[in-house]
Amino acid sequence: MRKPQSLRAQLLSRLTLPLLIVVVLDASVSYYVALHYADQAYDSWLLDSAKSLAQEVKAQKDKVTFELPPIAVEVFRWDAMDKTFFKVESLSAGIIAGDKGLPSPSITAIGRDEAIYSDGEIQGQKVRIVSVLTTPTADDTDDVLISVAETLHKRRSMMNEILLAVVLPQLLLVLITGFHIWTGINRGLSPLNDLAKLIAQRSARDLNPIADTGVPLEVRALTHTINALLHRLGSNLKTQQRFIENAAHQLRTPLAGLKVQAERALLADKLETMKPALAHMKNSADRVAHLSTQLLVLAKSESLSQSAREFSAIDLVSLARDCCMDWVPKALERNIEVGFDAPKAPVLVIGDETLLRELLSNLLDNAICYGNPEGHISVKIEATPEPNLIVEDDGPGIQVNEADKIFERFYRIPGSRGEGCGLGLAIVKEIADLHAARIIIGPGYAGCGTRIDVVFESRFAT
Ligand SMILES: Nc1ncnc2c1ncn2[C@@H]1O[C@H](COP(=O)(O)OP(=O)(O)OP(=O)(O)O)[C@@H](O)[C@H]1O
Ligand SMILES: [Mg+2]
Repeated sequence: MRKPQSLRAQLLSRLTLPLLIVVVLDASVSYYVALHYADQAYDSWLLDSAKSLAQEVKAQKDKVTFELPPIAVEVFRWDAMDKTFFKVESLSAGIIAGDKGLPSPSITAIGRDEAIYSDGEIQGQKVRIVSVLTTPTADDTDDVLISVAETLHKRRSMMNEILLAVVLPQLLLVLITGFHIWTGINRGLSPLNDLAKLIAQRSARDLNPIADTGVPLEVRALTHTINALLHRLGSNLKTQQRFIENAAHQLRTPLAGLKVQAERALLADKLETMKPALAHMKNSADRVAHLSTQLLVLAKSESLSQSAREFSAIDLVSLARDCCMDWVPKALERNIEVGFDAPKAPVLVIGDETLLRELLSNLLDNAICYGNPEGHISVKIEATPEPNLIVEDDGPGIQVNEADKIFERFYRIPGSRGEGCGLGLAIVKEIADLHAARIIIGPGYAGCGTRIDVVFESRFAT
């Protein structure tokens, strides 16, 4: 399972990462630009020094001389931080003055009155060198290369100063902005935390909607969804409560009868006088058993509708034939004839066999119970246009204004015969819905009686 990601961490990384990249880029560009110009300033100072030394190179007859009093050399070399080196080199006579160890650039790479910069090393120290070429003789017979070098301490300390000057403010900027982002995110997320606390403090029975006054617009979508869910939960709970009350009520009547008849049976001395009470007790026990069976079937089809169903291909023809056989004895008790009409080939639907049996059993139970005594019941299966299961009787039929109500749980048409509990058609509807089948109620034989069609959708047919 993926670890849940923190919204705070996501927001923080998405906001601060681009900021950090921009700051680092900005700092680097500023640093290198400042360094470049500072380097240029030091280089031009070095060049000035080299040019001032070039002034001291003289030509006497054909000889090149460099005359600088020792005190001037000392002044030239003096620097608080760095060491300065120089070298005056005639192309014909070699080194005339200065530090012999100072590396010279290739003479061919340098033009007259041109400066060339290079990096080198002298006495184990890294130096920056500038070299200029000058021609002191009138007849251009000799060229003199003057190189001035300086150690890098000043440049390095300047690099550090620039680095501090550039990086410190940027670091401060990142800290201040980061702090504002952090507090902003916390403030932005606080309505969510408040909402979570509010919901956590609620009792499990409190299904009132969550107040959304003062809740930001973005969070309001969440409160609306939660409130809609609470509303649905509330109405579901009410339905369940009603259902339990009805079921308890339905159970109480036969159980009360059972108790009264048992008391009566206990008072009787002989078996003969006891028998009517015992018959009543059996009747009450039958009613309780029937009610509990109906409740169990309803509970099973309800739980199936809420979970993943494991349906299989079922032949409606053989299922209906078996079911009819089971109900023939009960039909015969009322002298009712049961007819069966189905195609020879199987009519397949995808479904749950036990539940489909319950569906047909309830329809047959009703047809036998409410149909005409000595009448006729017909069970038909049609394969086209869609798989259709039809149960038809020749009883009194169902009034149009009752057609919707009879599918409600525990509803019985006033004055109905028998001792049903009003759950049969509710079960039929639940199972039909589960199989995406629709129920059509109409008149039966020759306009009288009841005909109930259970039409399965084609996508459920194989
Ligand atoms: N074929 C029918 N003909 C006439 N009325 C019917 C028929 N089927 C159902 N009804 C009416 O619809 C009502 C509801 O039927 P339903 O099967 O839901 O409950 P029940 O038969 O009373 O009880 P249960 O089936 O739970 O034992 C019945 O009371 C009956 O009045
Ligand atoms: Mg019934």
